[in-house]
Amino acid sequence: MNEKKLITLTGITTTGTPHLGNYVGAIRPAVQASRSDARGSSFFFLADLHALVKNRNPDEVAQSSLEVAAAWLAAGLDTKRAVFYRQSDIPEIPELTWILTTLTAKGLMNRSHAYKAATDANRDADVPDPDRGIAMGLFCYPILMAADILMFHADRVPVGKDQRQHVEMARDIAQRFNHHYGRLLTVPEADIDEHRAVLLGPDGRKMSKSYGNVVPLFCPAKKLRKYIMRVRTNSQAPGEPKDPDDSLLFDMYRSVASAEETAAMRERYAAGIGWAEMKNELFEYLDALLAPGREVYDRLIANPGDVEAELRRGAERAREISRPLMRDIREAVGLRTLRA
Ligand code: TRP
Repeated sequence: MNEKKLITLTGITTTGTPHLGNYVGAIRPAVQASRSDARGSSFFFLADLHALVKNRNPDEVAQSSLEVAAAWLAAGLDTKRAVFYRQSDIPEIPELTWILTTLTAKGLMNRSHAYKAATDANRDADVPDPDRGIAMGLFCYPILMAADILMFHADRVPVGKDQRQHVEMARDIAQRFNHHYGRLLTVPEADIDEHRAVLLGPDGRKMSKSYGNVVPLFCPAKKLRKYIMRVRTNSQAPGEPKDPDDSLLFDMYRSVASAEETAAMRERYAAGIGWAEMKNELFEYLDALLAPGREVYDRLIANPGDVEAELRRGAERAREISRPLMRDIREAVGLRTLRA
């Protein structure tokens, strides 16, 4: 039987240093999937062209690419099966972006949440021109993302809820292309896991750089411990039964531990585990989970050439798919070699 394997693809914007929240929400599930997926059926890439929309500091952009790539590799991504590459190494992506741009309705982009948020912010600040300070890169961001997805025939795109609209737009754009030029593009579907674990910060809000409550994923154990010690608790004494469903420490534990471990911890809450003890348990758990990756991560950061080699191998594999598709697309739209 020649059953078509489903292609999964997702991009990781290279802004900042990867943190524990990224690990729990995106890296760990993807790494686990990469170990069982058929070779060549999952694609993970560094969205560094997208990063330029958000960050104009060249050294930060470069450093973040290294750190994000090193984090994925250190977390155990199986790059023999999954194709792991850097968006900017695939020249077919910006080429496809332009072709898609010629077919994308401006009105569709006007409705993009990210663009609307930016113009709303201007209106709220009484800026006379709602487009002030907004680059075309932000406006057209969804078209570049559509090219990322459509370039590799992705069927499923695992993303957070905030990216649902972008995947919908990629569907729209693919359908428009196929309708006009013939069915060359696969219409993708967003794969949004509503139960995906969210790791909260010590103040109870989502772990996010914008709240400044982030722990770098592979930071030294000492820093990790400090962070856990800061997590908010209440004034209940050791020995008093505690409510796990109203405990940040428990939430954090649950986001990394197995179902059995979580159930056992629930019982320890009922039996009155003290906060200091619980903090220690959580720290030990996280530290054991992350220590092996931490070593690999530090070694990769010290040897960027190893990361580079990995990304280049990935790009070669990716281009085995993007080159022929781009050839077909050029032919389909009329960008053809002239022949006698
Ligand atoms: N925009 C996505 C984010 O900010 C990253 C991204 C870029 C992406 N291209 C993609 C995700 C293609 C999935 C598919 O999270």
